[in-house]
Amino acid sequence: MAVHGNTTDSRINGIKAWREEPEALEVELASGSTALAEEVRTGLVKTPKRLSSRFFYDAEGSRIFQEIMHTPEYYLTRSEYEILETHKTELLQLFVADQRPFDLVELGAGDGLKTKILLGFFSEQQVDFAYAPVDISSDALDGLVADIQRQWPDLRLKPRHDDYFNSLHQLSAESDARRIVLFLGSNIGNFTPEEALDFYRQLHDQLLPGDLVLTGFDLQKHPAVIHAAYNDRQGLTRAFNLNLLRRINRELDANFDLSSFDHYEVYNPETGEARSYLVSQKSQTVTIRALEMTVPFQYGEIIHTEISRKFTRSQIEQLATKTGFSVSGWFTDCKGYFADVVFVRN
Ligand SMILES: C[S@@+](CC[C@H](N)C(=O)[O-])C[C@H]1O[C@@H](n2cnc3c(N)ncnc32)[C@H](O)[C@@H]1O
Repeated sequence: MAVHGNTTDSRINGIKAWREEPEALEVELASGSTALAEEVRTGLVKTPKRLSSRFFYDAEGSRIFQEIMHTPEYYLTRSEYEILETHKTELLQLFVADQRPFDLVELGAGDGLKTKILLGFFSEQQVDFAYAPVDISSDALDGLVADIQRQWPDLRLKPRHDDYFNSLHQLSAESDARRIVLFLGSNIGNFTPEEALDFYRQLHDQLLPGDLVLTGFDLQKHPAVIHAAYNDRQGLTRAFNLNLLRRINRELDANFDLSSFDHYEVYNPETGEARSYLVSQKSQTVTIRALEMTVPFQYGEIIHTEISRKFTRSQIEQLATKTGFSVSGWFTDCKGYFADVVFVRN
C-alpha cells in the first residue's frame, strides 16, 4: 500500500525484526490520505477553519522541519539536545534503577536527532534495551531506521509506522521489560490541556507501576523568544505551514494557490499558547476534487494549523498528579528554556 508516497515494502526491506517476531514488521498505517481526507472534509467547514498539525509531515514537511531545527531562532532542539547530552548518565540511572531491561518506546520519533544521544550512550554502556520508534510519517521513520542500522547494527529495533494514538494500546506488557516512553520535542505542546490529560491517562492505563514517561516540555519564557522561534528569518516555518496546502493539492487533487496564502503566528503569554495560521490573502474559492468539495475563503480568513503550548513547572506537576504519575526527574538546559521531565507511573 502506498503511504505518503513510499511503499511499505521499501520500509520493510531495511528493518530488522525485533524479538524475531514476523508481526513486528507489520508497519502499515490505515491510509494516510484517508485520514487527511477526513481532516480536510471536516476541518475546512468549521468556523474558524482548522487542520491538525499532524498532517504537516509528508516527505517535504519532514525535510523542512529538519531545517527548522537548525535555525538560530528555533531554540527548542538545541535546548533539548543540551539536556540529553548533559544528563544522559542520570537518565540512564533512572531507567535502569530497577535492574530490568527496558523497552524505549518513542512517540513521534521524527529523525531521532536527540534520541540518538541516548541510543549511542546506552549502546556504548552495553545496556540491555530495545528501541521502538513510532511515527506517522513513513519518510521520517524510514530515515531513522536506516540511520540506526548503520550506526548501531546490533541495536534491537521495533519501528512502527502509525498514529501514536492508535499505538498506545501496543504499550501493554508483552515482556518483563520495563516500559519507558519518550515523548520529546515538545510534541505535548500540540495538545489542548484536555487532550494532554486524556493522553497521559491513556498512558497510565497501558503502563505498569514503575514504568516511566520522559516528556520534553517547552517552558514559558520571554514572549519574543517564543515568537521568533515560529517566525524564522529564512522563512522555513512559513514554508512548513504552507506545505500543508501543497500536500492537500497533491493527495486530494485540490487547487490551493500557495501564493495567495500567508503564514501567521501569534504567541499569547497569558495562555502560554503559540498558534499558527494560514491566512487567505484574497477572497477566493478552492476546489478539492477528491472530496467533491469547494471551499470559499474571505480576504483575511484563517485556517488554524498548529497550537504549541508552553508550560510552567506547576502545570507540568499538576499534569503528572492528575493522571496517576509522579515526577521523578526534572532536567533543564542552562537557559531554563526547556525541561525534560521523567514521570513514574504510580
Ligand atoms: C515536532 S516533530 C518532533 C520529532 C522528534 N520527537 C524531536 O523531538 O525532534 C513531530 C514528529 O511527530 C510525528 N507525529 C506528529 N503527530 C503524530 C501522531 N499523531 N502519531 C505519530 N507521529 C506523529 C511527526 O511525523 C514528526 O516526525
